[in-house]
Amino acid sequence: MSYRALPKVELHTHIEGAAPPDFIRGLAKEKSADLSGIFAADGGYAYRDFWHFLEVYEAATSVLKSPNDYARLTRAVLENCAEAGVVYLETFISPDFCGGRDAIAWRDYLSAIQDTAAEVERDAGITLRGIVTAVRHFGPDAARETARCAQETAGDFITGFGMGGDEKSGKQGDFAYAFDMAREAGLKLTTHAGEWNGPDEVRAALDDLRVQRIGHGVRAIEDPALVNRLVEDGITLEVCPGSNVFLGVYPDLAGHPIAKLRDRGVKVTVSTDDPPFFRSDMVKEYEDLSRQFGWNAADFKALNLTAIEAAFCDNATRDRVR
Ligand code: ADE
Ligand code: ZN
Repeated sequence: MSYRALPKVELHTHIEGAAPPDFIRGLAKEKSADLSGIFAADGGYAYRDFWHFLEVYEAATSVLKSPNDYARLTRAVLENCAEAGVVYLETFISPDFCGGRDAIAWRDYLSAIQDTAAEVERDAGITLRGIVTAVRHFGPDAARETARCAQETAGDFITGFGMGGDEKSGKQGDFAYAFDMAREAGLKLTTHAGEWNGPDEVRAALDDLRVQRIGHGVRAIEDPALVNRLVEDGITLEVCPGSNVFLGVYPDLAGHPIAKLRDRGVKVTVSTDDPPFFRSDMVKEYEDLSRQFGWNAADFKALNLTAIEAAFCDNATRDRVR
């Protein structure tokens, strides 16, 4: 059965990571940039492993040079998500790529993204909220500047603060100051943890950054006491099964812990992370989960309710989506 028509809530995407390869190829051509090295023979993105993926991601992003480029990107991403039945989407947006963490440039990029999102919401009925994101391997000083941008633009559209990037670089606690700044600005918090590192990383995210949600978090399964803590504290995991399998965190979906985590009472949700990089979209994620774990429409509806409860939006938006 196809799950295309089922209304979906997606909490974990990276705006540049959702860029269709044709869109990036087109921008590269306009700007006479040679990006041929990042594409495979089938036209999709090509990379060897997660760390090479981060390099290819940053190379693709290098042709996004202006607010107008991000406006066009926002439209392309939202139209694809709406096509897959997504009605509410959260996306990570990093001031690193949008104006180099300059607060004035950042406002221009953000206005372009937000205005386009409002247009697409009218046309296609998909609501977007932005999570300002630090990039872990750019270090704590850059993260503080990122948090400053987040503070200045916190509001109806920018509702969260997060961190992605190389989990092997530094410690969660190195970024506590940036997360404290974001919390004081009223932003909700999430960080990538337990994707490449084990349970200790998830524990550090909870203890040192005091996040409400965890990006991935799946390796918490390796520590039953931590799983209990996730349940007791009501922490929501932004699980991206297709990403985890494609990048080799797990060899296949059969070995992925999402069903075990759900059955133990953890609040799990499903997202695509960087859909074209993993040859995925939300319809494929649902179909694969249905095939592997026997999940049906009722399971997915429950999953979407969990997601909208954990969404970084106000209650009026939550009620409208629910
Ligand atoms: N940035 C984009 N995708 C990511 C992922 N899966 N993990 C960490 N950082 C990312
Ligand atoms: Zn991610």
